[in-house]
Amino acid sequence: MNEIIHEHYIEAGKIAARVREEAVSRIKEDTPLLDVAEFVENRTKELGGNIAFPCNISINEITSHYTPEDNSHYFRRGDVVKVDIGVHIEGYIADTASTVEIGTDHYGRLINACEEALGCAISSTRSNIETRAIGKIIGETVRKYGFNVIKDLTGHSLERWKLHAGVTIPNYRSLFSQRIEEGMVFAIEPFATCGKGNVRYGEAHIFALNGRVGTDAGQEIRSRFGTLPFARRWVPQIKVEELKGLRKYFELIEAGGEIVAQAEHTVIVREGGCEVITK
Ligand code: CO
Repeated sequence: MNEIIHEHYIEAGKIAARVREEAVSRIKEDTPLLDVAEFVENRTKELGGNIAFPCNISINEITSHYTPEDNSHYFRRGDVVKVDIGVHIEGYIADTASTVEIGTDHYGRLINACEEALGCAISSTRSNIETRAIGKIIGETVRKYGFNVIKDLTGHSLERWKLHAGVTIPNYRSLFSQRIEEGMVFAIEPFATCGKGNVRYGEAHIFALNGRVGTDAGQEIRSRFGTLPFARRWVPQIKVEELKGLRKYFELIEAGGEIVAQAEHTVIVREGGCEVITK
């Protein structure tokens, strides 16, 4: 990785980490979800970053891919909230998430299990390690606490303008495995739950355009967001469902309705270790 690209990653990571922490401090009972999502997106730009995807705010049994569309949803006492944000500089993406519980402490151990699993995964990430070896460490750490991982969700490699660049880091010791190399960039994201960890799909609130764009509306989206994800509320004048080549990011929900926690950092793989850019 050359020095300029490295600097872009460092800058994106620094902004993402700061915005994540500021967002967490705004997650309070009776605050609309939209306030926090818009804060994240505006603050990212204010600090000189670009938005890599709509701010995900996923509550309780929802694992990921929810973003508020209007002012009708409020945080409630006892909610377990995952806030997941993405910042890019020139297409180089930093992806990070954390979990907070509002006003109660019923799920502190679940949140800790996730954070510890992420820490252990980061400690073991280095060039030439197998992805399933990292997955094994994540799975064992979460199970040690008596919880399960969400097997359908994985960490993922990041490349310029690509949020999911092809290499995945499982949250358990999977059969499938790939060897990771120096200079690769990964978002590592364990999800832990009190349930069995199976997921079902909900509605889609986040979208992206793949392939060819036929219409003016499609071209507008392509020119503003490229192939990166966007929210309906960013393009109120466009009927998103009518776009050609539309990819829908369906909400993922713990199938038993059990609470889910998430922790996520972006790392650059080095020989003998990795550099965490979203600390
Ligand atoms: Co993320």
